[in-house]
Amino acid sequence: MKILGLSCSPRKQGNTDILVGEALNGAKHEGAEVELYSVSGKDIKPCDGCWSCFGTGKCHIKDDMQTVYQKMIEADGIIFGTPIYIYSMTAQAKALIDRTLALSSPEKSLANKVGGVIVVAGSIGIIDAVKDLYFFIAMHKMLPANLVGAYANNKGEVRKLEQGMKAAWELGREMVQIAAKKFEFPSEFARNFFAYGTHTH
Ligand SMILES: Cc1cc2nc3c(=O)[nH]c(=O)nc-3n(C[C@H](O)[C@H](O)[C@H](O)COP(=O)(O)O)c2cc1C
Repeated sequence: MKILGLSCSPRKQGNTDILVGEALNGAKHEGAEVELYSVSGKDIKPCDGCWSCFGTGKCHIKDDMQTVYQKMIEADGIIFGTPIYIYSMTAQAKALIDRTLALSSPEKSLANKVGGVIVVAGSIGIIDAVKDLYFFIAMHKMLPANLVGAYANNKGEVRKLEQGMKAAWELGREMVQIAAKKFEFPSEFARNFFAYGTHTH
């Protein structure tokens, strides 16, 4: 059982890293192998919309996302953590989730992996990022675990939020327990950009 924490803050050892780390501590306590991957200092380019990955499972952009793909494929559960930047997820988080278009083939897929969400804001604006991340989780046929939303601004301030830290720990534990159920969506019903949501033709 592997739980991967993706921290999409460019600020090293900031509030997102801390909360994602605490969720991983909870997952480890529950028996999982855990890894924290921070995008800080990494080269994760935006999707260029070439669509060559769709069906092949291979993205032609050679950057650090290739490592992230591998880690995501190997994980049973993935925590998506982001601070709020101007009422939204960070540019790094959006680049990363857009690039998961490459994980839409049956051979390389995020289906049936557990998805957890951690969002940190200074004062206001978490809801759109939460909604976007849960939609992303649903679109990939992942299994949604809990959400942790915390309000902290200065680096490390989140440690003072007793309930927030506890919620993160519990998220990690919950993800391991959900993954242990080994639920699988029926493969007959695809969900991807063409099969999920509104249909126009
Ligand atoms: C460019 C930028 C934009 C931000 N926009 C918001 C915002 O819209 N709402 C808010 O509450 N906090 C905002 N913040 C504050 C961060 O969400 C907050 O400091 C958070 O704790 C940072 O997490 P980190 O330590 O993991 O980087 C912004 C910070 C930066 C640097």
